[in-house]
Amino acid sequence: MTALITVSDDLTFALSNAHLSYVFRVSAEGILEHLHFGGALSDPLNVAVHHRRTIRHVASTFQGGKHYSLSDTPQEYPGFGTSDYRFPAVHGRNAHGNTIFSLHYKKHKIVKEKPRLKKLPSARGGESETLIITLQDRLHKLRVELYYTIWADHGVIARSAKFRNLGKQEIQLQHAFSSALDLPSGDYEIQHFHGTWAREFNEERIDLPQGRFVSDSARGTSSAAHNPYVAVLQKGATEDYGKCYGTTLLYSGNFAISVEKGEFEDARVLAGINPFNFHWRLKPGKNFCTPEALHAYSGEGLRKLSHHWHRFIRACVTPERFRDVPRPTYLNTWEAAYFDVDEDKVLDLADKAVEIGVDMLVLDDGWFEGRQDDTTSLGDWRADKARFPSGIPALAAKVKAKGLKFGIWFEPEMVNPRSQLFEKHPDWILHVPDRVSSLGRNQLTLDLSRSDVQDYLYNEIDAILSCGDVDYVKWDMNRNMTEVGSAALPRNRQRETSHRYMLGLYKLLDRLTTAYPDVLFENCASGGNRFDLGMLSYMPQGWISDMCDPIARLSIIGGASHLFPLDVTAAYIGPSPNHQNGRVTSVKTRFMAGVFCAARGVSLSEADIETHKDEVIDYMAFAKATADDMIGGTFDRVKKTANEVAWQYTTRDGSTIYLAYFHILSAPNLPFRRAHLVGLDPSADYHLEDSDENYRGDALMQSGMPMPQVAVGEKTPGVRYMDDGDFSSHLFVFRRADG
Ligand code: GLA
Repeated sequence: MTALITVSDDLTFALSNAHLSYVFRVSAEGILEHLHFGGALSDPLNVAVHHRRTIRHVASTFQGGKHYSLSDTPQEYPGFGTSDYRFPAVHGRNAHGNTIFSLHYKKHKIVKEKPRLKKLPSARGGESETLIITLQDRLHKLRVELYYTIWADHGVIARSAKFRNLGKQEIQLQHAFSSALDLPSGDYEIQHFHGTWAREFNEERIDLPQGRFVSDSARGTSSAAHNPYVAVLQKGATEDYGKCYGTTLLYSGNFAISVEKGEFEDARVLAGINPFNFHWRLKPGKNFCTPEALHAYSGEGLRKLSHHWHRFIRACVTPERFRDVPRPTYLNTWEAAYFDVDEDKVLDLADKAVEIGVDMLVLDDGWFEGRQDDTTSLGDWRADKARFPSGIPALAAKVKAKGLKFGIWFEPEMVNPRSQLFEKHPDWILHVPDRVSSLGRNQLTLDLSRSDVQDYLYNEIDAILSCGDVDYVKWDMNRNMTEVGSAALPRNRQRETSHRYMLGLYKLLDRLTTAYPDVLFENCASGGNRFDLGMLSYMPQGWISDMCDPIARLSIIGGASHLFPLDVTAAYIGPSPNHQNGRVTSVKTRFMAGVFCAARGVSLSEADIETHKDEVIDYMAFAKATADDMIGGTFDRVKKTANEVAWQYTTRDGSTIYLAYFHILSAPNLPFRRAHLVGLDPSADYHLEDSDENYRGDALMQSGMPMPQVAVGEKTPGVRYMDDGDFSSHLFVFRRADG
């Protein structure tokens, strides 16, 4: 393997592969100056840079340096108060009571084996190299190690920082960002994803304003309000044009990704733990590790950026055990029966699951002691004796005897005030003394920073999983945190609770997924309230939204697809009218919105299943037959207008191309529409299934494929139409002729 990281004698560092180069150097003052992040360079140690010692009449000069100012110097890990006025990566209080730290290069090393972060998820190494730069504040004996990892075949780099207090006095950390990236002056846009419950992943693009744009969370989860993913784009970037710089985090708690346009029009990207309300006491001799940040680069628009992310997340983030495993089709009891579940009902639904040909029955909420609605019982993870007299292990065995897999729902991090657990351990919740705790969905959050709480949850879940008949766990989390404080921490460490909660959660997840490597875990937080790479490091898939109306889900999946490969997503055919927005749609379109998700299923009542049985059987047969295809292929957004969406999915071997087309509202006299496919072999022939049509790859890409027409009423024979008027969908399947 050729070296991925090179260093010159005068301390210029380059991380470089076929997709990108990342270059920085040590200045005469010992400052890490950023030089380049972008397209791959064949001689990366030799980039043309501005003279940094230029007379600028307004800029402060750095610690006696002649004409050297940090105000206009792109840096790798900037601090505050030594001539840079932008928001800093590191900030805190030192033993003198002031906030001035000055970090200078001390040494570096390169390692082949990627170091795992202690107590936090981190991307797997594989063919990679990691550069570790040590910075030091000599006065306060604060050491910061910056970790940079580059992989041989990914357009992504990883960064994190590790603090170590080598002094004799405590240091209080307030900003401890994982990464800082100072992009040069330019005309940028920001792409980010915002939302709320059942409306996640709305894409917004805005011109980078003067000042600071921040996408963040102070809710205790990464949240649906702002997903921890922000891309800085060359203005006007499209799917296939423009320089794009994406940033995300392997973290599921309070995060911040900010982009600051400084006085010199540069763009500083900071990513890490949200400094708002964060405060960490670093005792002498102690370390603090930040979460890992990831940056991806594409010089050819958003499609390539997404491809980099998708390949990287599959290869280096989600659990390897399930990477290439087709997901089971399933029937989930939630929108089929809500809390109205008991053993007989579940076994009836299991029979229905067999009739419609799915692989797995998932028992959602409502199975544990006293849980008949959402006001009670979270925390008491034993089967309700009246409704589930045989208990969960026996029920699981009965379901499995029908030839199905068995899955079950937990919401481990929560407790209802009306529960045996809360009665016994009122101190086990996140709370502050002498204040009434605010509720969310009638529940309180357990204090996962405590090891006794972690152990309790491990034992409760283990008691059920150890029967050996549980194939799948849906791990839910249905509220944001309030009154965040821990009875187990001293007064002066209360503001560490949120991050310690995450460390506790990751520890618990690590224990459980290590003990049960074959159980498929699905991450859920009222849908997408914690849909991030931290959770996906432990769980191969996630429930992206409680919104199952297919039209609303188009923008949720389309938005999420900018970062996430769809093989981390699950979808089901839910009821119509939809229970969240009341929209009436066909079974077909309800299925099609999730057609490229890896895990596909149904959550319909027995009566609904009866009414639509033939269709449901057909779609579940299709889901089963294509389960392997939906793992590891390439997803592309090929069309998006106010009224249309088209997605392309190409299987791993390129032999099958699926093209899903959605037409939202019908209207008379619509124009003829086309979709242009991408990534095909230009000289191969592709056969359109269920037709006698064959097209050359270049024709499908350059000239495009005519989309079906939308018509109600009279139709011309031989013309391809959408089945419905409003909310219609169509799936094309092309097979490569020599495939
Ligand atoms: C959350 C989940 C749903 C369902 C319910 C059960 O809302 O997102 O899918 O599991 O909880 O209470």
